[in-house]
Amino acid sequence: MTNRTPSPDTVMRLINGYWATGILAASATHSLFTHLESGAGTAAELADRARISERGAQTLLDGLLAVGLVELSEGRYRNSAEASAYLVDDKPASLAGFARLKLTHMGSLADLAEVVRVGGPVANPVVEVANNPHWEGIVTAIAAQSLPAATIAAEVLGLAGAGEISVLDVGGGSGVYSGIWLEANPAARATQLDWAPINEIARRLLTERGVADRFTTVDGDFHHTDFGTDAFDVAVYSHIAHQEGPESNIEVFTRLRQALRPGGTLVVNDYIVDDDRGGPAFPLIFASEMLLKSKRGSTWRRRDYQEWLVKAGFTDISFHSAPPATLVIAR
Ligand SMILES: C[S@@+](CC[C@H](N)C(=O)[O-])C[C@H]1O[C@@H](n2cnc3c(N)ncnc32)[C@H](O)[C@@H]1O
Repeated sequence: MTNRTPSPDTVMRLINGYWATGILAASATHSLFTHLESGAGTAAELADRARISERGAQTLLDGLLAVGLVELSEGRYRNSAEASAYLVDDKPASLAGFARLKLTHMGSLADLAEVVRVGGPVANPVVEVANNPHWEGIVTAIAAQSLPAATIAAEVLGLAGAGEISVLDVGGGSGVYSGIWLEANPAARATQLDWAPINEIARRLLTERGVADRFTTVDGDFHHTDFGTDAFDVAVYSHIAHQEGPESNIEVFTRLRQALRPGGTLVVNDYIVDDDRGGPAFPLIFASEMLLKSKRGSTWRRRDYQEWLVKAGFTDISFHSAPPATLVIAR
């Protein structure tokens, strides 16, 4: 231990962490990063393009400078490299929608102390409710995070050159995996199982991508819907295992093993913590989200996935980094 005198700075920054969420979400709401990217560089120029007050624009710029999302040089602002890559609207990897969505979730954190006391959600259950409108906001916002994972998985599995494969995506959401994989492999077909309103969103997005003719949806609850037997070459379970408890994950992995043809591959993508729960930071913090929103979910350890997949009948299991998530490939 050092003799450094503690400063209140870190604690103050964390206590006021919601300022950053609000500033970022308000800036995304008014597309400030998009306007900065296309050359607006002062509060007056941003106010004009975004049709907001100049006082408001300057306040957001001050906040964005403080959190490192813009840079200031000779009186003009510009996006930081991170803002340029991840906060400009309409870029495939844009997290602007996610920033807007998270602001709407912020109020629920007021329940966290009580949720911690009782060990689960106290109001507005999310995960266990059929057709919950919550998912409609989540699935398009999370697609930007799933896109790199789907791209890495396609490379690891060599999907582009895999010929006439058939894919099952359980809880496929926006259909981002199917979209990317069907584009990469013109002989592939994909089936997505999800709630009806979410499948409708996925069908619209895959129609826009021009691959809807090879995309089928099944509406329903994956806990009770048959996945079939020896029917698929690849199965996907992305950002679902964290909402489920161990028994449910083992049960779903077992049915997915049966649904896969011999030699078929299961792709799991999730926020996974180290075996000693010593990191990484994002999955450690995300456990609170699951305590708030699910009866049994959490961020699970690598050894949990390893153990569950072996119980489900998989023998060859590997982990691949797809920050802030981890891909698990199981055969
Ligand atoms: C966090 S999103 C992940 C979406 C997508 N897999 C991805 O990684 O981008 C969770 C998805 O699981 C779906 N889902 C959650 N519980 C479900 C259930 N019991 N039955 C069917 N779908 C469910 C939600 O509708 C949503 O599309």
